[in-house]
Amino acid sequence: MSLVRAVELRRVLDSRGAPTVEADALTEDGGFGRAAAPAGASTGAHEAVELPAGEAIAAARDHAVPRLVGTVHAGDQRAVDASLRAADGTDDLSTVGANAVVAASMAVAKAAADTLGIPLYQHLGGAFRGPSSDSFPVPLGNVVGGGEHARDATDIQEFLAVPVGAPNVAEAAFANAAVHARVGELLEERSIPAGKGDEGAWAPLTDDETAFEVVSRAVADVADDHGFEIRVGLDVAATELWDSDAGVYRYSDAERTPSEQVDYVAGLVDTYDLAYVEDPFDEEAFDEFAALTDRVGSRTTVCGDDLFVTNVERLDRGVEEGAGNAILVKPNQIGTLSDTLDAVELAVENGFTPVISHRSGETEDTTIAHLAVATDAPFLKAGAVGGERTAKLNELIRIADDAA
Ligand code: PGA
Ligand code: ZN
Repeated sequence: MSLVRAVELRRVLDSRGAPTVEADALTEDGGFGRAAAPAGASTGAHEAVELPAGEAIAAARDHAVPRLVGTVHAGDQRAVDASLRAADGTDDLSTVGANAVVAASMAVAKAAADTLGIPLYQHLGGAFRGPSSDSFPVPLGNVVGGGEHARDATDIQEFLAVPVGAPNVAEAAFANAAVHARVGELLEERSIPAGKGDEGAWAPLTDDETAFEVVSRAVADVADDHGFEIRVGLDVAATELWDSDAGVYRYSDAERTPSEQVDYVAGLVDTYDLAYVEDPFDEEAFDEFAALTDRVGSRTTVCGDDLFVTNVERLDRGVEEGAGNAILVKPNQIGTLSDTLDAVELAVENGFTPVISHRSGETEDTTIAHLAVATDAPFLKAGAVGGERTAKLNELIRIADDAA
């Protein structure tokens, strides 16, 4: 295999216009890989640490790059990631910054794939798990949102289209885009003003109840049109609603105690036949996650994002306690591809569904599309429209073509 010859880092723009870290990796056999770190807005308290891009780049040049160049084989992702971790020396990657580490980890993986002359998903699948050609990740499409991604819109952060009945990736992605367009029409018909949030979802000046009504209608219309089943999902991002002093979840028009929140969300699952519910409770609320999973886990996906932060120790606890039945997987929450793959593996071993995900701040990087295919993940959460979102969806369509 080929040694890492160089890793170059620079500041580039993310979709919010904020600086993020991009890495270019070269191997001694001329392989090239480029990757960029995404960034969250509703980040979990237990995520690996993101440093200001300039600081992360300087620290990576000082500590991480010298350890990789000329000593580590690019195709040995475990060794690449171990040396990134050793260069940092902390569990939360606060010396080098998880943003520089994840960009370097992904860039070297791409350079290794390029050296081998195979796509990234095959390189990752070969190293970790076999890719499957008879199943594909169903894209979760964010069509209406508020929370930290659009302050004056809904309390619930994301209303998602879930095209469970789509016959292939392309039909699924186009169905989500059609739901997004239909939502726009319905909002206009109702004279509800709406801009767009950070992920390109509509950000209507309305309440959650109206958003449910509009999204359910749009999903039903597009399902009729396209001739397959589409359901509704949510990312509540409830950590942002949780008032720990008062011990209640604060909505614009209500407050709910933890047990009322369990009842409320279980009710939503029934009323709207939700296929997917992410972070319906605060990031420390393992008990409420377990209570909800007990009630509705047999008929819906209960996913932990801020709860698990792609961290095997927190997922271990979730498995023990029956807190959820799915984990959101974001490489930059934990920092390296190897750690990310460990979280996916632990999830699958324990019957938890891995959901590979973008962040609200994204770039044109498409690594997560490859990761979803490499791990045979049932879902890829990458938005519905907008260039940094369609970059992932279009890459998934290309991969499906390539694998056919
Ligand atoms: P974030 O939001 O990237 O702002 O954390 C996405 C999510 O909560 O899933
Ligand atoms: Zn989330």
